[in-house]
Amino acid sequence: MAVQSRILDPALRDRIMSADEAAALIEPGSNVGMSGFTGAGYPKEVPSALARRILAEQGSGQPFRIGVWTGASTAPELDGALAKVDGIELRLPYQSDPTCRERINAGSMEYIDIHLSHVAQFVWFGFLGHLNVAIVEVAAVLDGGRLIPSSSVGNNKTWLDEADKVILEVNHRQNLGLEGMHDIYYGTRLPPDREPIPLSHPNDRIGSPYLLCDPAKIVAIVETDRPDRNTKFAQPDETSRLIAGHVIEFLEHEVRRGRVPPSLLPLQSGVGNVANAVFAGLQEAPFEGLTAYTEVLQDGMLDLIASGKLTSASATALSLSSEAAARFEAGIEDFRKRIVLRPQEISNHPEIVRRLGVIAMNGMIESDIYGNVNSTHVMGSSIMNGIGGSGDFARNAFISIFMTPSIAKGGSISCIVSMASHVDHTEHDVQVIVTEQGLADLRGLAPRQRAERIIAQCAHPRYRPMLEDYFERAVKGAPGLHTPHLLDEALSWHVRYLRTGTMELPPADF
Ligand code: COA
Repeated sequence: MAVQSRILDPALRDRIMSADEAAALIEPGSNVGMSGFTGAGYPKEVPSALARRILAEQGSGQPFRIGVWTGASTAPELDGALAKVDGIELRLPYQSDPTCRERINAGSMEYIDIHLSHVAQFVWFGFLGHLNVAIVEVAAVLDGGRLIPSSSVGNNKTWLDEADKVILEVNHRQNLGLEGMHDIYYGTRLPPDREPIPLSHPNDRIGSPYLLCDPAKIVAIVETDRPDRNTKFAQPDETSRLIAGHVIEFLEHEVRRGRVPPSLLPLQSGVGNVANAVFAGLQEAPFEGLTAYTEVLQDGMLDLIASGKLTSASATALSLSSEAAARFEAGIEDFRKRIVLRPQEISNHPEIVRRLGVIAMNGMIESDIYGNVNSTHVMGSSIMNGIGGSGDFARNAFISIFMTPSIAKGGSISCIVSMASHVDHTEHDVQVIVTEQGLADLRGLAPRQRAERIIAQCAHPRYRPMLEDYFERAVKGAPGLHTPHLLDEALSWHVRYLRTGTMELPPADF
């Protein structure tokens, strides 16, 4: 591919420059909207160049920090590089970078953890302040400001629409076969003028295959040739396989009961190894004609498409291992017929999730005995990653499933606790809890019934007697018996872990 053949508008060729020159166009204090979603489609050169500039300016005594808004998590070249030089004043809406996490938990970086479907509209509403710059990776620049999007869409439409100036990274490594895989919906209006979104099947196309950008706003074009972060997936371990097995058995049961069709309903899955194991398990399961309406397309889902079990998938990003990325590129002509990549305000839209009847499957950090779920915080105060799209899907799903191993950190932590130390998904949004121990179907149960089922089905045997003991005493001693708790004891498991390194009680105390 000749270097300039991806920038087809001759009028824009004079804006091609180096990453350092582009980074020089960003003012201290700017809010910068960057592309990138789960390690796919993020700018790979300008953020690192900006980090170098920030370091140099700080060295000469000039404070230089920016606000970083993205689709979701990115990669070391973006979040890592900027966090390492302490260049991020405020980060939103989701991250999973170790240095960002450290700075957020040390109190030196502000972090706003937002439902991913909310971000674009919060920007349109003006809730997040002004967006100064957009830095967006694309596969190619066509004429008239039409852009072939990259391996993720995320919030790019909003960044391009709302930012004062736009820096494009044209990545020659992104396959031009991506052209036509995207569906960018330009029909959203602000209340009170909103209309229904005309999407009623996961593979419906309701928009344009191209992102649109006013050429006058494009101040720089930087050419790159670097691969996405490409997630590494572990082979499913025994725990993940057991969790996946319980989920699949449950779905088979739902089909037998006639509550969902034999092809199921559109599937959504969170990121990570457990979610990937569920999709690996579906390969062997007796379902055909599956569909997905989800946020991220991982290896397991790609394999299901390749085998014909999954007929279509809607997402906002690819998140593939390098091996799966190679398979994707080899079969891109066929995958393009079955995969639609959309802006995240559409891939995660509550209206669509509710209309399609999505089956949502997400990971969690802990659940309490009543099914209040914590997806984001360790021991009540330290952020892990963020809520991501889990809330967009969980609250509006046909069935909302949360999954976790029953214990963490070698068994010193129980993931089923008396009271969750932080709540992202309330008991009202959680219908099924799954651990390797079993599955608790909470539909139609009142709080005390939910507690009995969660403890019996999901708790690890090391912690089950402690939970039974807590619940029995709460039922006897709580001031109210709707959701019985002993408030002076409810969070003592977390306190004990912080003090002693384990949630377990010494045998003498129990
Ligand atoms: N207390 C403390 N730490 C815990 C814990 C608990 N109850 N449960 C898990 N952890 C730790 C694990 O030990 C592990 O730590 P490590 O990285 O140091 O090994 C880490 O959390 C991840 O746990 P793991 O069991 O490997 O699960 P995961 O990779 O599936 O991640 C979440 C689980 C909850 C962190 C992840 O699903 C997440 O970020 N969810 C929120 C966003 C979301 O749901 N997005 C999808 C929406 S589309």
